[in-house]
Amino acid sequence: MHNLRIGVPSKGRLSDQAGELLKQAGLSFRRQERSLFARVGEMPIDITFLRTDDIPVLCAEGAIDMGITGSDLIAESRAEVIKRLDLGVGKCKLALCVPDDGVITTAGQLHGKRIASSFPNVTKDYLASHKADVHLVELGGSVEIMVTLGVADAIVDLVETGSTLAANRLKILDTIGNYSTWLI
Ligand code: PRP
Repeated sequence: MHNLRIGVPSKGRLSDQAGELLKQAGLSFRRQERSLFARVGEMPIDITFLRTDDIPVLCAEGAIDMGITGSDLIAESRAEVIKRLDLGVGKCKLALCVPDDGVITTAGQLHGKRIASSFPNVTKDYLASHKADVHLVELGGSVEIMVTLGVADAIVDLVETGSTLAANRLKILDTIGNYSTWLI
C-alpha cells in the first residue's frame, strides 16, 4: 500500500485555506520553500502541491487519492471525481455580466455577440441551454476588462464580493452557478 496522497493548491487564495484546514484536521507538515511535496508527520500521508485547476483531472487520473479544489474548477474540468465534503470556504459564484449601462437584459439577447470567459465549458453549456450562439473568447484571466478593451459584449467570470465588477462598470445579468472549496 502506498501512502495516502493528497493534492492541495500550491498558490493562490485556496493554498493558505487548504493548509490551515489540514492542520486543523491534525495533519502536521511543513512545506519547504518552492518544494512541491511534503510528508505528514507520523501519518502515512503525502501532500503534493499542485495548480488548483489541475487537481480535478489529477484526482480523476489517480495521481492523487484526494484533493482540495474549487467546485467551479471541478465543473469546468468535467473530470469524473467524487465530491466528498464541502469545506465551507471559498464561496463564489460564476456570473454572466454585462455593462451596467447596457441594453442587454436577457441571456437570449447575446445571440451573435462576443463573450469572454476563462470558464469556456461551463459557459458553453449555459449558453446552449439559453439557445444563444455566441463567439466565445477564451482567456486565462483579467476577464472583467474585456468589455472595455472592446473584445467582448459580455463576460462570464467568478464574483465574490462584486468589487471587481463595480470597478469595471459591469453588473450581473444571471448567476450560472454557486461554488465553494471541496474535498474530492
Ligand atoms: C477572482 C475572479 C474575479 C475576482 C472576483 O480573481 O476571477 O476577478 O476574483 O472577486 P470580487 O468579486 O471579490 O472582486 P482572483 O483574484 O482569484 O484572481 P484570478 O483571476 O487570477 O483567479
